[in-house]
Amino acid sequence: MGIKVIFDTDPGIDDAFALFYTLSHPEIEVIGITTVFGNVPIDISTENAYILKEKSESNTPVFKGASKPLLRPNGNFPYFIHGDDGLGNINHARPKNIKENIEASDFIIDSAYRYPGEINIIAIGPLTNIANVINKDPKIWKIIKSITIMGGSWFAGGNISPVAEANIYNDPEAADIVFKSKIPITMIGLDVTHKVFLTNSNIKSLASFKNNSGKFLKDISSFYVKFYKVTKNMNGCYFHDATAAIAFTNPEFFDFKKGKVFVSQDSLTRGQTVVFESKKFHETIIEDNRQNINIANKVQSKKVIKKFLEIAENYMK
Ligand code: RIB
Ligand code: CA
Repeated sequence: MGIKVIFDTDPGIDDAFALFYTLSHPEIEVIGITTVFGNVPIDISTENAYILKEKSESNTPVFKGASKPLLRPNGNFPYFIHGDDGLGNINHARPKNIKENIEASDFIIDSAYRYPGEINIIAIGPLTNIANVINKDPKIWKIIKSITIMGGSWFAGGNISPVAEANIYNDPEAADIVFKSKIPITMIGLDVTHKVFLTNSNIKSLASFKNNSGKFLKDISSFYVKFYKVTKNMNGCYFHDATAAIAFTNPEFFDFKKGKVFVSQDSLTRGQTVVFESKKFHETIIEDNRQNINIANKVQSKKVIKKFLEIAENYMK
């Protein structure tokens, strides 16, 4: 019995690293994996969650969630980053034992009532499932312990538009509902995830560990790494989603500031996260009882990578 986590994801290659880390962490008990559209359509994202569950030898149940943003149609899927199948185009076998009985947001609500005050959510895709939870049960904030979000940007600009980070851009209305909720939130945005690189030599080390997971992660990451080489001349990749998972387990590797986060729903700045830092003078602020959240603004990136490799070497299957 460890710290209870629900892992909300749109796998996605960097999602796979984050999920393997969280599933194998000795102090964490992942009670469910909930899926959302994002890097790929929902059917592929859910199938990928099953593939990752099998490859990591986990028994954690998977629950299929939102297929589209709350109010908008789906946009383009970034097949050029994660591959047509979302997991690097390496001909994965179809997963066995696919069981879908409860919808993702219903699973989250049921779990919150089953374990009041104990559930932490790590959300590394668009925030549609979490917004559905809040819309269905507006008082649920009283019994959810925390949400750690990979998403948004304070001063780092965007990665899908000049101002927006992809997870928030993909469902800005949902993200704003979540940032407006009273659940304790930690935002791990591009200000820190653009400081954490998994290098090609880190990936080589992963593959040398005495387990199958490291080799699997290396295999799926070739496609992702190629994208970073071609588009940014990087020798490795950003480590977005795993950085959020590690911020949950090791907040001491990060500096945080407090602020209220609003999400732009305009067409020009869609998905921009506008931060009103706590205790700073602002000429204007929208007063809607929004809470301050924790926003990561600095990271000790070497410690993040070291922690990932340590968990991979010692605990992944
Ligand atoms: O902006 C990075 C995020 O978008 C990550 O969650 C990654 O998986 C991508 O979809
Ligand atoms: Ca993701």
